[in-house]
Amino acid sequence: MTSLVEKSKKICAYAAVDENLKPNHKIIGIGSGSTVVYIAERIGHLPNKDQFTCIPTGFQSKQLIIDNKLNLGNLEEFSKIDIAFDGADEIDSNLNCIKGGGACLLQEKLVADSADNFIIVADDRKSTGVLGKGWKKGVPIEVVPNAYNKILNELSKIGGNPTVRPGTPAKAGPVITDNGNFIIDCDFGEIPVADVKDLNSKIKAMVGVVETGLFVNMAQKAYIGNADGTVTTVS
Ligand code: A5P
Repeated sequence: MTSLVEKSKKICAYAAVDENLKPNHKIIGIGSGSTVVYIAERIGHLPNKDQFTCIPTGFQSKQLIIDNKLNLGNLEEFSKIDIAFDGADEIDSNLNCIKGGGACLLQEKLVADSADNFIIVADDRKSTGVLGKGWKKGVPIEVVPNAYNKILNELSKIGGNPTVRPGTPAKAGPVITDNGNFIIDCDFGEIPVADVKDLNSKIKAMVGVVETGLFVNMAQKAYIGNADGTVTTVS
C-alpha cells in the first residue's frame, strides 16, 4: 500500500512538472532522492519527451533518466539548463534549502546554478520555515579527503558540531561522493533565515571545502505535497 508520504511526493512532483515544463524547454536538470523519482516518471510519460535532454546530478539520477527512457546529457555538453527539479532535506521560509542528505550536493548545486529555473519538490515534513528545525543531521559539506581534520576543527570554531559521514558498513570508511570526496555533516542547531547566507560564505571560505549543502536564494519555487492530498506552491 502506498503511504501518505509517498503520495505527497508524487502529487507535488507531478504538479511541478505539469505547471513548469514549457514547450520551448529543451534541457532539464534532474535532481537526486526519492521525490525526483516522480519527476522523471512524469516526464517519461509525456508524448513529447524526446524533445528533452536530461542532465543528471548523480548515479541514481542517471539511472532514473535511463529507466524512464529519457535522453541523457551532461553538463560538459550543455552549460545552460532551461529548468531543473530537485528534492530537499529542509526548506526555510525564503526557499533556502539544506541538501546533500544523499551526498549529491555538488552535482546538484552545479545543475541548479546552471538552470534558468530551479524548482524544489518535497513532502510537507521538509517545509519547516527554519533550517535545522526538522532536519537534525546537520548541514552536509563536501570536502577534499585529506582536509577533513582541518575542516572539522574550523567548523567547531564557528560553533558547529561536525562529524565525517560514515559509509556502510562503517568499517569500510567514510562515504565517498561521486566526485571522490568526503562529506562532513555539521550541526549548527536552528539557522535563522537572516543568517543562512553568511554561514554559507564562512564555510565556503575554508580551504578544502568543495561545496556546501546550503542552497541560498537558488530556488524560484517549491511544490510542497501535503498529507491531505493538496499541493502548496511557495515562490
Ligand atoms: C541528495 O543529495 C539530496 O539533496 C536530496 O535531494 C534530498 O535528500 C531529498 O531527498 P528526498 O526526496 O528523498 O527526500
